[in-house]
Amino acid sequence: ISLKEYNTFGVHVNAKRFVSIDSFYQLQELLKTEKDLFLLSGGSNMLLTKDIEQLVVYLNIKGISIDREDENYAYVTVNAGENWHEFVLWCIDQGYGGLENLSLIPGNVGTCPIQNIGAYGVEVKDVITQVEALRISDQKRVHFSNEACSFGYRNSIFKNEEKGKYIITSVSFRLTKNKHNLQTSYGAIETALQENKIQNPSIKDISNAVIAIRKSKLPDPKEIGNSGSFFKNPIVAKSIFEGLKNSHPNIPNYQVSEDQIKIPAGWLIEQAGFKGKRFGNTGVHSKQALVLVNYGEASGQEIYTLAKQIQEKILELFSINLEIEVNIL
Ligand code: EPU
Repeated sequence: ISLKEYNTFGVHVNAKRFVSIDSFYQLQELLKTEKDLFLLSGGSNMLLTKDIEQLVVYLNIKGISIDREDENYAYVTVNAGENWHEFVLWCIDQGYGGLENLSLIPGNVGTCPIQNIGAYGVEVKDVITQVEALRISDQKRVHFSNEACSFGYRNSIFKNEEKGKYIITSVSFRLTKNKHNLQTSYGAIETALQENKIQNPSIKDISNAVIAIRKSKLPDPKEIGNSGSFFKNPIVAKSIFEGLKNSHPNIPNYQVSEDQIKIPAGWLIEQAGFKGKRFGNTGVHSKQALVLVNYGEASGQEIYTLAKQIQEKILELFSINLEIEVNIL
C-alpha cells in the first residue's frame, strides 16, 4: 500500500506488508514472530525516502484513562495511538492544565516523549510522569520514570541509548486541576492575549492563542505536506555567538546556559536567502523558514536534497552545523 496518507509530508512510498495494531496484547503477540519492524504512528516527524521492505506496524492503540485525582492534580494515562491535539483539547475540556501551550502539534501521543515535543515555553517532559513501553527483545512491559527518560531539548533516551529497542505503548501525565501555572512569557502569546484584551487567561485562552499563532506561521499538513521544524535550533558557544553578533547585531538568541546560546535555525535559513523559495516540488515555507514543504508530488529524496543544500549553505555562511530534527528513513 502507499504510505502517502500516513506521513504528514505526504510523500508517496510503498509498503509491501502493513498491519494495524490496536492493543498492547496484539503487539506483544506480533513481536513473538516478527522482529524486523517499521513502526508508524502519526507520521509527523519522518521523511520517507524509499519503499519500506520491513513489515509496517501502524500503532493505533486508543484510550484515555484517569488513573486518580487529588485536590490539585489529575493523573492521566493515554495510549500511544491517540491523536496529540485531540488529547490536548480533551484536557482543556476537563479543566486539566499543563498541555495548553502544546496545542495543535501534529502526531500521536506515543511519540511525544521520543523527541520531547516543545513549544511556547513548555516541553512535554514538564508533565510526563511515566512512559510505558514494550521491549522488542523479550516482549516485556517496561516502565520508564520521567528521570529515566533523560529528556533534553528535542531529545530523550529513546533517541540515544535505547533507540530502536522499545515501542512506546502509553504515556502518563500529571496535570493541574486548579492552580494553573500558566506559561505566557513567550512574546507571541503575550501579544495575542493583549490583542484580545484578555487579562486573566484561562487554559482555553492560552490554547486558542497558540492555535492562532501556529496557524499563522505553520502550514497545515492536510493542505501542504510538511513535518514542522525540519532542523533543530543550533546551540553554540558564547564566543561563536559574539562573533556572529558583531556582523549581525539583530540576531535573535536564547541563553541556555552560562556559555551556551541557542540561535533560531529559521533565522539563519532566512538570512541565507531560502525563505519562501521553491525548488521544483519542494521548498522552504514562506512564513517560517524552519519548515520544508512538499507542494504535492515531491519525493523524500528531493526534500532531503534541499535539506542538505541548506545545511551546506549555513555551514559556509555561519560555520554552524544544522542538525536535522526529522527522522530520515
Ligand atoms: N525567525 C526568523 N525567520 C524565520 C523563522 C523564525 O527570523 O523564518 C526568527 C523569529 O523572528 C524569532 C525566532 O526566529 O525571533 C524564533 O522563531 P519561532 O518563534 O517561530 O520559533 P522557532 O525557534 O523557529 C521553535 C520550535 C517550534 C515551536 C516554536 C515555538 C524547534 C526546532 N522548533 O521554533 O517547534 O513551535 O519554537 O515555541 O525548536 C516543531 O518542532 O515542529 C516546531 C514547530
